[in-house]
Amino acid sequence: MLSVNELINKKRTSQKISMITAYDFAFAKMAEMAQVDQILVGDSLANVMLGYSSTREIGMEEMLVFTKAVAKGAPHTHIVSDMPYLSDSNAKLALENAKKLIEAGAKSVKLEGAKLEVIETLVANNIAVVGHLGLLPQTASNFKQVGKAPQEELQILKEAELLTKLGVFEIVLEHIPSGLGQKITQEVDAITIGIGAGPFTDGQVLVLHDVLGMHNGKYPPFASPFKDFFSEGVQGIKEYIQSVNSTSN
Ligand code: KIV
Repeated sequence: MLSVNELINKKRTSQKISMITAYDFAFAKMAEMAQVDQILVGDSLANVMLGYSSTREIGMEEMLVFTKAVAKGAPHTHIVSDMPYLSDSNAKLALENAKKLIEAGAKSVKLEGAKLEVIETLVANNIAVVGHLGLLPQTASNFKQVGKAPQEELQILKEAELLTKLGVFEIVLEHIPSGLGQKITQEVDAITIGIGAGPFTDGQVLVLHDVLGMHNGKYPPFASPFKDFFSEGVQGIKEYIQSVNSTSN
């Protein structure tokens, strides 16, 4: 398992870092066998696993169940767990909840936005923290790219610098212009992991269901599937049904 220091060393020696989401035992096992650097138990599980329309709909209870399952499936991989909506609304609550996620098997926790007091408190209590800037699905009103306007660009850059200063070791940058992803990567010591942030970040993360083509819905412009698990699955189940129907009594 890669420690925080080993991950930082990858940035320092210009080695790319791979991260993928996983939410359960079976797929965590698959991700570990594929030797991904980090698994994110993302709150995107609200959408892709539970069928909710927003990540705001899941809470700590679900995050703990899924984190435990992933930790069982990938005991040798660095697991990052998302702090769900409102679980980090103040420093005391965030610390309690982050400790629960670590106990469930996460090695670090990720939280959206520049919540400075929360981050300070977690870091002071030896919790490894991953930031998340750019598009913030828990509070965004739409899923358009952010950081195009010069003022917005400057704000995201400043927040990345601030988070790094507070001790965040890694920052997920979601749906921002490639140039901004590159600028942040060059200017901060924290590792940058992009999702729709161009090719110049220290690493990349994608949602497992997008990578494997596990759904027949809309794919984000930055996530073309590498496989077609959805069609394969439908076909496999059809073959099973045929075999059941063709068995004589
Ligand atoms: O929840 C998630 O899957 C995420 C990624 C989009 C980075 O936060």
